[in-house]
Amino acid sequence: MKDKQLLVSAIKEGTVIDHVPASALFKVVSILNLDKLDTMISIGNSLESKKLGKKGIIKLSKVFFKDSDINKIALVAPCAKLNIIRDYEVVEKKVVEIPDEIVGIVKCVNPKCITNNEKVDTRFNVVSKSEVRLKCHYCEKITNQDNIVII
Ligand code: CTP
Ligand code: ZN
Repeated sequence: MKDKQLLVSAIKEGTVIDHVPASALFKVVSILNLDKLDTMISIGNSLESKKLGKKGIIKLSKVFFKDSDINKIALVAPCAKLNIIRDYEVVEKKVVEIPDEIVGIVKCVNPKCITNNEKVDTRFNVVSKSEVRLKCHYCEKITNQDNIVII
């Protein structure tokens, strides 16, 4: 391929989170608590992508997540692709899948909900995954795709 140059450098060992919609990039950073890591992180945003228009990418050296952590990002970036890198090669590709239950991360849409008034972690059952619908464990109100707020 002519002039194939990476805008964000290749990594030797770790995880590449690719195809993140530009608008969700910093939500992914927050959901995965990347600010708490002291390993090398490269982030690119608003890169050109044929599929997404503009995409974000996160490259994490020496970091490998549990699937349960990776799946949390499906709420904001359902089309994200994870690439596991060993010795500069992509050895595995993973897609993200919305979990059945979401604890913390998302705010309940109901202002009267106990989770919005006391120090109680939010907890939702995922009642629909295609069009995301989350049912609050406490007040039973539905938080949907359009009003998801990441805590
Ligand atoms: N990558 C990296 N470091 C490496 C190898 C790959 O940062 N040592 C990154 C690439 O820049 C790319 C992603 O990992 O963003 C996936 O690599 P690859 O599968 O080679 O790219 P594509 O074929 O474009 O994959 P896809 O179409 O699945 O995104
Ligand atoms: Zn609630």
